[in-house]
Amino acid sequence: MNDTYFQDQVAVVTGAGGTLCSVIACDLAERGARVALVGRTPAKLQVVADKITAAGGNCRIASCDVTDERGMQQLADELLADWGPCRFLVNGAGGNNIKAMTTLTAFDASELGDARPEGQVGFFDLDMEMFEQVLNTNTLGTVIPSRVFGRQMASAGGGSIVNFASMNSYCPLTRVPAYAMAKAAVVNLTEWLAAYLAAANIRVNAVAPGFFVNARSVQYLGSVQSGLTPRGQKVIDHTPMGRFGEAKDLLGCVAWLLDDRASGFITGATIPVDGGFLTRSGV
Ligand SMILES: NC(=O)c1ccc[n+]([C@@H]2O[C@H](COP(=O)([O-])OP(=O)(O)OC[C@H]3O[C@@H](n4cnc5c(N)ncnc54)[C@H](OP(=O)(O)O)[C@@H]3O)[C@@H](O)[C@H]2O)c1
Repeated sequence: MNDTYFQDQVAVVTGAGGTLCSVIACDLAERGARVALVGRTPAKLQVVADKITAAGGNCRIASCDVTDERGMQQLADELLADWGPCRFLVNGAGGNNIKAMTTLTAFDASELGDARPEGQVGFFDLDMEMFEQVLNTNTLGTVIPSRVFGRQMASAGGGSIVNFASMNSYCPLTRVPAYAMAKAAVVNLTEWLAAYLAAANIRVNAVAPGFFVNARSVQYLGSVQSGLTPRGQKVIDHTPMGRFGEAKDLLGCVAWLLDDRASGFITGATIPVDGGFLTRSGV
């Protein structure tokens, strides 16, 4: 499926060892791009690299924490020297952490007492270190790669960035205050950067996936195969298409947003890929 537009261009995909961006990285490699796979765990990236290589694609493992600006700059310098400037950046690294979630969906007077029910976590009990980590990964983890690779794009005459928002970007879900706040910020940053970088011929957009099962979310949503949790059932009931998303549901949208031929006058947009979740008020 080589495509002259992507052929030999440098694409950087952060979170490339994860559920969604591993599939996006494989798709960009299949289109002919040279793909840098960014994440903190080399073993996860190796699995994706092996898949790409076996299919005849070109990629390299670029292990780094997206919140480490110095590390990311070093990575960007190495890539520039070996491959040339980045043209496409997919900021997929991110996600929630169960330790930054409440178990309660609304304030309960028991939060104020000493004898709390076992396992209960309210807003006042939240671990602020984890809260900050979730905020940083999703926000600074989008800002930093956009700075180090955006600079390369600007020097080379242009490029395209796709960020990862969420349903939480529009209206916060219960129990995930840090993640919801961070993903709302990603939409705002996408708009800010789009306005700022248009003069450098760089477009900046975002995708907002609905509910896609990954290793973490399966703990609180369940799965169709193993049984849904009450929260998972609520999500499905609220999704007109009646299912969770699969990574391949994102491929067309991401490739379209990266491609000037298809979306060359679109910047600052966040596109929901959600089976219709946002169309249903719940009433
Ligand atoms: N799944 C969904 O339903 C859903 C819905 C809406 C939005 N999203 C967003 O879509 C993106 C991808 O989600 P996913 O479901 O594929 O999640 P995932 O399977 O957990 O993958 C996320 C990847 O990001 C990497 N990562 C996390 N923190 C990082 C850091 N500080 N530096 C570098 N890499 C880091 C992780 O690898 P390491 O731990 O090895 O670094 C992991 O492989 C995320 O931004 C997520 O918030 C997902």
